[in-house]
Amino acid sequence: MGYLIAGNWKMNGSIAFAREITAALKAKAAHAPKATVALCPPAPLLAEVAAALKGTPIVLGAQDCHFAEKGAHTGDVSATLLKEIGCRYAIVGHSERRADHGETDALVQRKAAAALRAGLTPIICVGETDAERERGETGAVIARQMRGSVPETATVATCVIAYEPVWAIGTGKTATIADIEPVHAQIQALFAEAGRASAGLAILYGGSVKGSNAAAILACRGVSGALVGGASLDAEDFWRIVTACP
Ligand code: 13P
Repeated sequence: MGYLIAGNWKMNGSIAFAREITAALKAKAAHAPKATVALCPPAPLLAEVAAALKGTPIVLGAQDCHFAEKGAHTGDVSATLLKEIGCRYAIVGHSERRADHGETDALVQRKAAAALRAGLTPIICVGETDAERERGETGAVIARQMRGSVPETATVATCVIAYEPVWAIGTGKTATIADIEPVHAQIQALFAEAGRASAGLAILYGGSVKGSNAAAILACRGVSGALVGGASLDAEDFWRIVTACP
């Protein structure tokens, strides 16, 4: 099973930045990376990045999508349009969207289902907050999010899960092997719970992944890639993560 390294730019970047970093990454990607590499820029930069990545093995992802195919949803973007513009992936249920926009598991599930219908691979995010972790609720939170956010139609071939402990996002605090491996195993078991095959399910880890810690994280059992925030804004550091894939 191949590794996936996805860069989530979040609400960062500009046209000039997109041009600069895609040029740098294009040069690096000329040496056929072992992993699948995806960039998830803000929606207005998708077309720019898609054009810049043409002819490279680097693929495109969106940071969100709407659950409907089209209609009166001001400010939202449909999975169908994201597919048309060249996306392969759509992140759904990122903890920042759950927090900033009150996205519930039920809504995330509908978004993931829409992505699947459009032929996109949803990257469905789950993860506990610091307070939940302190209260020993990590397992319960992951179970609730997995059961509520993964659509029935998802299969190992069509969907990716990302474990992003909220306390490790943008904080510089990285989870240890002891934090990561049990949750990844639990995610795989929960995926199988609905009667689905779960062998080979892609489960990314996200939360302060950078060049210096990528090798240790990517070597964890059950980790098949990384969802990278801050470090994906630096071509050198991002590529260090790509080349750290075992
Ligand atoms: P950081 O890598 O900046 O911690 O962000 C992780 C993340 O949220 C990726 O989706």
